Amino acid sequence: MHLTTDPIGVFDSGVGGISTLASLTRRLPHEDFWFYGDTRFAPYGTKTAEEVLHRAQAILREMHSHQVKAVVIACNTATSAAAPALRAAESIPIIGMEPALKPAALLRHGGMNLVLATPMTLRLPKYQALAALWGEGAVPLPCPGLMELVEQQDNAAAEAYLRELLAPYPPERIDSVVLGCTHYVFLRPLLQKLLPHTTSILDGNEGTARQLERVLADRGLLSDREEPGKITFHTSGDPKALLPLMSAMLEKAREILPADSC
Ligand code: DGL
Repeated sequence: MHLTTDPIGVFDSGVGGISTLASLTRRLPHEDFWFYGDTRFAPYGTKTAEEVLHRAQAILREMHSHQVKAVVIACNTATSAAAPALRAAESIPIIGMEPALKPAALLRHGGMNLVLATPMTLRLPKYQALAALWGEGAVPLPCPGLMELVEQQDNAAAEAYLRELLAPYPPERIDSVVLGCTHYVFLRPLLQKLLPHTTSILDGNEGTARQLERVLADRGLLSDREEPGKITFHTSGDPKALLPLMSAMLEKAREILPADSC
């Protein structure tokens, strides 16, 4: 039995999920959030699906000891690898993420929708099923090594990576760029600089926040307290180095949060 004031667990392989956390806390400011960055075992996107499932199960065990009332997998890769198995085993709501292919398809006007994600996300059946429905004009672009540049906050290297990645595609033919990895949301300002202002840059964070709100409301689990919720950060990596970085990344994510992302 859970209380409405119990925290919501949120996890990712590292700081990427903090971009999701920014949307979650904006939509649900009275909730407590318990965020876990699995930095010691990052990256997820170049591992096997089994390895990522084992990490997700271990993180869920840890979250249960903190009484979480729901879990957000703030990671497209871990959702593809682990969400069905976690849902089958858990009684609390498990909210996952997927690349925003549907909104991109609805906005498309005959050009390309570039889908940037980890190799695992693009390889697993979840993406294949999504692409079968909404993949017209979608160009999947696996980006091994890109999450590491976000973790290191190496903007110059990230810019060089993106310039090379985008070089084969004429800018006027790119209708949208789908950020299919929560780390890449931190690259939004860089992409805005590199792409025409007519290109939509889409992520799944706001949709995930709306879904979490709906599910908590359905189960009568929305916090009913008046005061702002608390956010705590946890990591499998070195807490001394990472906890201050995680707080700073939340501030950064809030600065770049679009008013109406999908
Ligand atoms: N942030 C993650 C995602 O949304 C994964 C990055 C990684 O660990 O490779 O897919």
